[in-house]
This record gives sequence, C-alpha cells and structure tokens, in this order.
Amino acid sequence: MVTMNRNKVVIVGTGQVGSTAAYAIVTHGLCNELVLIDHFPAKAVAEAHDLDDGSEFQDRHVKVHAGDYGDCKDADIVVITVGRKPPTNSNRMAELGFTVGLVGDVVDHVMASGFNGVIVMVSNPVDVMAWYAWKRSGLPRSQVIGTGTALDTSRLKTIIGEETGLDPRNVGGFVMGEHGDSQFTAWSTVSLGGKPFARFLADNHDRFSSVSTAEIEHKTRTRGDEIVAAKHGTNYGIASTVSGIVQTILWDERRIVPVSTLLDGEYGEHDVFLGVPTELRANGANEIVELDLTGEEHAKLHHSAELVRDHCKGLL
Ligand SMILES: NC(=O)c1ccc[n+]([C@@H]2O[C@H](COP(=O)([O-])OP(=O)(O)OC[C@H]3O[C@@H](n4cnc5c(N)ncnc54)[C@H](O)[C@@H]3O)[C@@H](O)[C@H]2O)c1
Repeated sequence: MVTMNRNKVVIVGTGQVGSTAAYAIVTHGLCNELVLIDHFPAKAVAEAHDLDDGSEFQDRHVKVHAGDYGDCKDADIVVITVGRKPPTNSNRMAELGFTVGLVGDVVDHVMASGFNGVIVMVSNPVDVMAWYAWKRSGLPRSQVIGTGTALDTSRLKTIIGEETGLDPRNVGGFVMGEHGDSQFTAWSTVSLGGKPFARFLADNHDRFSSVSTAEIEHKTRTRGDEIVAAKHGTNYGIASTVSGIVQTILWDERRIVPVSTLLDGEYGEHDVFLGVPTELRANGANEIVELDLTGEEHAKLHHSAELVRDHCKGLL
C-alpha cells in the first residue's frame, strides 16, 4: 500500500540566504511543500513565484508559496534565516544585538502556531541564536539545531581539494566549535583517502610539498569574510549546507554532520551549542560523536564554549 508522506518546510527570511536555500531545496526536490515568510510579504510572494516559474524544468514539483506563521503548525522543519546582510570587516558576534530581537519574535510566532518539528537556525551568531531558540521555544534538544560548522567543514574539504587537486569528497574530518573566529580544524580527525592527512602529505611529499595545514586552516576560517567583502554576503555555500541538513532530516538519512547542537556533558561542556559531529535523523539531532581530540584541540573547543556561553548571558 502506498502511504502519503507529505512533508513541508518553512523558510523564515527570504533574503540572500533564505531565497538561495529555497532554490537549493526546490532543485533537489526535497519536500512536497515549501512556504516562504518574510517581514516584507511582497518579497516572499515574489521569491515564491520566481521559484515556481521553473516548475516545468524541475525534476520534481515542489509546491512553493508565500505564507504566514500559521503554516508552521504542520511543518516538519522551519529554517530561520532572518537578519541582515553581514557588514564587511565585522565578526559574526557583532550581529548579535541586531539579530536577537528578530529571532526571539520569529520563534514566538512559530511556537504559537503549535509547531512541533525541527528548527534549523542559520541567523548569526548561529551558535548563540540556536541556544536562544532552544531556550525560548521550549522544544526538546533534538528539535533545535544550528548550521554550526557544517559549512566550515565543507569549506575545509573544498580547500584541501583545491590544494591537492583531488576531489574534496575524498576528505574526512571536521571543523569544530563556534561558527566564527574561534572555530578550529580538528586535524587529528582529518583524513584523505582513508589516511590521516599528515601521513598522506608525508607519503606524497614530492607532489604536495607546498601544502601547508596552517594555511589551509587560515583560508577555511577567513574564506567567508573574503566572500562577504567582495559580494556583500554569502549564499551558495550556506544554501547547499541548509539543503543538505534538510535532506538528512526529511529522509531520515542518519548522516553525521557537524551541526550546532546542545552539549550536555559531551566534551566536558554544558549548556552551550557548538558545532560537533552529530547524527541527524527524522527527529533532528541525536547522538553526538565524541572524538578522541588532542589536548590542544580540547582546549580550543573549551575556548569556543566559553566565548559562546558568555554571549548567551543575559539574553533571556
Ligand atoms: N550560519 C551560517 O553559516 C550563515 C551563512 C551566511 C549567512 N548567515 C546569516 O544569515 C542571516 C541572513 O543573511 P542574508 O545575507 O540573507 O541577509 P538579507 O538581508 O539578505 O536577508 C535577511 C531577510 O530577513 C528578513 N527579515 C528580517 N527580519 C525579519 C522578521 N522579523 N521576520 C521575517 N523576516 C525578517 C528581511 O526582510 C530579509 O529578507 C544573517 O544573520 C547572516 O549572518 C549565516
């Protein structure tokens, strides 16, 4: 017997990030219904029409329309991308004062609808905003995640691909901690073709003598800032990341993704959201993978935790 599996995603905020994430979700045909909400309703209507106008040439028809918070009631996922284009030369924590009021308002409206799905936070500073949405919504820990260091991890793999000339998908490992300046590459987890990365470089010294891990890590941390400086925002990388997370949840793929999730004793941290490898299922965030980090990596994770916790103080 065929059963109906109608899944629904809502995106709140149809700016650069929200509209591109919507496009990625539509081109991958991830859900049956996609609803767009924006502070400027006419913008959401225009984005929905523009997206739907390509229906003839999409692999699967996703019904896209503008809506309101009542649409969140039976949604599986609400993606929050409200905010404003990040100013050049400022770190993500600098957006906190502006974003917190918007996110609080959005979360209240979403919860008032009776929503009981998964919130995917994108607005920056994403770790602080995910914690805030979790506290404010009263949803279980599994049902609130931030995009965390998923984009940074993808950037790391892309840059290793550029440096070695190999497909980035050969790379394993994680960028962890804050999605921001205190993030770090957990080099002890990074591998290429199944070999620890340092060993891979040593074994292929003639080919890769110019490859520097310090430079790769620096480029990974600063790539977003460079893109913002040149085009006043980032959209494609984060849109692919959001659609990957949405797919993993809607399709119950059980992929391990470094989303921002609540640490409740894992890695010795409490009451803080950070990017750590987390198993995603249909119900959202499940088990956190506790990796054997080196002492130095552990200290860097702790530093990120302190910084994010500090910025959460006084928000409630
Ligand atoms: N987590 C990540 O990795 C990541 C990556 C890129 C951008 N971001 C963040 O995403 C956010 C959005 O960036 P952008 O470039 O799309 O900005 P943008 O200015 O292009 O879009 C923001 C949108 O939010 C809407 N909005 C504002 N307040 C609202 C409210 N209360 N209700 C509904 N809609 C509202 C605006 O009308 C606008 O359409 C920023 O906080 C940015 O830092 C996060």
